[in-house]
Amino acid sequence: MLRQEVDFAEIIEALYRQTNSDLGGHGVLLTSIGTDGRPNVMTIGWGLYGWFYHQHPVAVAAVRPACHTHKLLDEVGEFVLCVPTDGIADAVAFCGSESGRDYDKFKETGLTPVASALVKPPSIAECPIRVECRIYHRQRPPHYILTPEHREMPLEQQHTIYFAEVLGTYRA
Ligand SMILES: Cc1cc2nc3c(=O)[nH]c(=O)nc-3n(C[C@H](O)[C@H](O)[C@H](O)COP(=O)(O)O)c2cc1C
Repeated sequence: MLRQEVDFAEIIEALYRQTNSDLGGHGVLLTSIGTDGRPNVMTIGWGLYGWFYHQHPVAVAAVRPACHTHKLLDEVGEFVLCVPTDGIADAVAFCGSESGRDYDKFKETGLTPVASALVKPPSIAECPIRVECRIYHRQRPPHYILTPEHREMPLEQQHTIYFAEVLGTYRA
């Protein structure tokens, strides 16, 4: 598989656009993996990306404890952000509504897991932009980062905020 390393600055706009519904996006796919080696993929619509005095750019994602992904991120503190094309919108919707506890979402959607360069979770062959990340800080609530509606949920149900360094950015 041809994979070209690119500067994060080249893809940050596409990543933001696809993450954010206000910019016309439908969500980005986040892959994770358990210590048993089984990968999972979920859709995220909340993300902050940029350069915050780190050597590497930073990606910040928010995942609810109810998600299977949350358990996997506890086990292996790495993830890959995969920017989908419009052609796989159905798969993105499935990964955003069904859980890896109940389905092998790669099998169900036909998305193809491929080895990442620097982290254990796979990248997705059908996604032309992949951002490989390693978590350096997990922030449990109360963190006041999300909306007032989110903060009405019991604390234990509110999202964990993951701060991760971007180890590598690739186009395929
Ligand atoms: C467009 C879209 C964006 C979403 N964004 C998030 C998000 O940022 N954080 C989150 O915890 N769940 C988000 N979800 C919901 C999860 O993707 C959903 O709960 C998923 O089934 C979790 O999968 P898992 O249990 O396999 O981890 C989003 C769903 C959609 C459709």
